[in-house]
Amino acid sequence: MDGSKPLAARERLHVVIAGHVDHGKSTVIGRLLADHGALPDGKLEQVRALCERTARPFEYAFLLDALKDEQAQGITIDAARVFFKTKTRDYLLIDAPGHIEFLRNMVTGASRAEAALLVIDAKEGARENSYRHGYLLAMLGVKQLAVLINKMDLCGYDQATFQRIAAEYTGFLHKIGVSPTCFIPVQGRDGENIARRSPVMPWYHGPTVLDVIEQFHTEPPAVDRPFRMPVQDVYKFTTWGDDRRIIAGTIESGRLRVGDEVVFLPSGKKGRCKTLEAFGRPTQTTAQAGAAVGFTLDEQVYVARGELATLAGQPRPKVTTRLRVSLFWLGSQPLVPNKEYLLKLGTARAAVRVEQIHRVVNASDLAFREDRADVLRNEVAECTLSLTRAIAFDLLDEFAGTSRFVLVDQHEIRGGGIVRQALPDGQNEVRERVLLRNHKWERSNVSPEQRAERYGQRPVLLLLTGQKGSDARKGLAKGLEARLFADGRVVYYLGMGSLVYGLDADLSEGDAGQHDHDRREHLRRLAEVAHLLLDAGLILIATAAELSREDLDLIRVVVDPVGPARPSLIQTVWVGTGVSTDATCDLVLPESTGDGISRLKGLLQDRGILFRAF
Ligand code: GTP
Ligand code: MG
Repeated sequence: MDGSKPLAARERLHVVIAGHVDHGKSTVIGRLLADHGALPDGKLEQVRALCERTARPFEYAFLLDALKDEQAQGITIDAARVFFKTKTRDYLLIDAPGHIEFLRNMVTGASRAEAALLVIDAKEGARENSYRHGYLLAMLGVKQLAVLINKMDLCGYDQATFQRIAAEYTGFLHKIGVSPTCFIPVQGRDGENIARRSPVMPWYHGPTVLDVIEQFHTEPPAVDRPFRMPVQDVYKFTTWGDDRRIIAGTIESGRLRVGDEVVFLPSGKKGRCKTLEAFGRPTQTTAQAGAAVGFTLDEQVYVARGELATLAGQPRPKVTTRLRVSLFWLGSQPLVPNKEYLLKLGTARAAVRVEQIHRVVNASDLAFREDRADVLRNEVAECTLSLTRAIAFDLLDEFAGTSRFVLVDQHEIRGGGIVRQALPDGQNEVRERVLLRNHKWERSNVSPEQRAERYGQRPVLLLLTGQKGSDARKGLAKGLEARLFADGRVVYYLGMGSLVYGLDADLSEGDAGQHDHDRREHLRRLAEVAHLLLDAGLILIATAAELSREDLDLIRVVVDPVGPARPSLIQTVWVGTGVSTDATCDLVLPESTGDGISRLKGLLQDRGILFRAF
């Protein structure tokens, strides 16, 4: 390692190796390590001897298996990641045997590839996964791509075969907007054109695989771009009476200095950066893209994991619940509208449905259909997704790191992609007001935790809804209020009628959809009042007829713009039979039930809202 750069100053390039099954990905990696002298002493011989003893032909892929968990001379192999170094820099080679691993890597940031090697078997030519992987790389914004035509021995090292495959695959890449860096004819097993120039293909004059890896450039850390840090965790100081927190995460782009005004989205809350710590390093005054940091704020601000930290005065990310995306589907069950999935983007999580499938593209032949009702495994689709709550993100062209997402079903990643467009969702105006409200919020010295501790309860807006004309709701709401009050709770019943002639005096009374604007405004004001009373630590019970999903979305934007707060700040109960709302209710309570009040109280206990018995 003489002559190597000191560790701290060294770059690390992440290179993904993709390609169709058995085309030789692992062999190419093994050979690269062996020929570059990156293997631990005696390892190669050991694996060869083992193969002889077990009468198996030696495979470089076995070498990779044998190196797993090994940490010697700077190589570490875990699952599908291989670290190695040359004089110029460090590499992380990501062997992506399947799409899921690849997507996970790209989206979680564990090993985000900036360059790719795509391996194609010279005898078989490009197959489905050669195309799909190419498409996926292009979609996720990996711009540097070298294509290795492997197993050249199987076509007699024939130049014409090489050129034919290269020409055909270039045609495909051009259609998806990718210009490959180069095509290299290789023979993985014998290491031809891997780390050394091959004498058996004298007609080839281009770079070897090692040359091309060394020529790939690392994207400069996005230091000069707007500051983005997905909030990973919020740690509390453990010292008694100290309720400051450290907000932790990895800086995706830009830089943060002590004194900067940080704005968290989607909540719009803000605070000034007071101290900054890069873990494992001394306290400092500035940190930049790539660093895992924690910072404190000058005032207590309640932010949650999943928010995106940004800086005031810099271009803001998008905040909405509707996204136009390109996605790749891998689930064995098709992706269908009206089923709930989980979307993960950065550290944000939100329940999501497919609102519309605009078109489905076959990633291997690029044929597309615009009339599809579902997306099948291995297909690529342009869709509109609708989230249950707003998240903050960027678009691919602006910044790939905060635009990539995965879709999860039953705890498994089933697909992923990038956000192409932020679409309006009907709540934009209200959301803008909430951003400003939170931005200008006058913070109290009494924290929500102190209030919760004093009252033995967490704040909640309990919404009782149901069919129009039913009298049961109000009775139940007032009954519950009296019961909780008698229990010693801090509780308040807020009737819509109490707002209409006072706070809402300037609005028309109509609430039956004749005056849609006024109905929304009534709801917005109800929600703002609720927000204040929840901030005061109350259990607030309110009734309203026929709340729809859209109504609830509006209320949630105002009351609980970030979520998913635990327990949720809003609980919705449908009173009566025949649920006629499209909103998801936390409880359905038939009017006939005699124990309505107890069941409502039970709900508050189950959700951890009433956490201390009096
Ligand atoms: P998966 O991880 O299963 O998708 O396969 P892979 O792409 O990693 O392929 P791998 O490296 O395991 O190689 C598959 C087979 O092709 C093995 O039997 C290798 O020995 C063989 N192979 C790899 N490179 C060459 C080559 O250049 N010439 C010949 N003839 N065989 C090769
Ligand atoms: Mg393999």
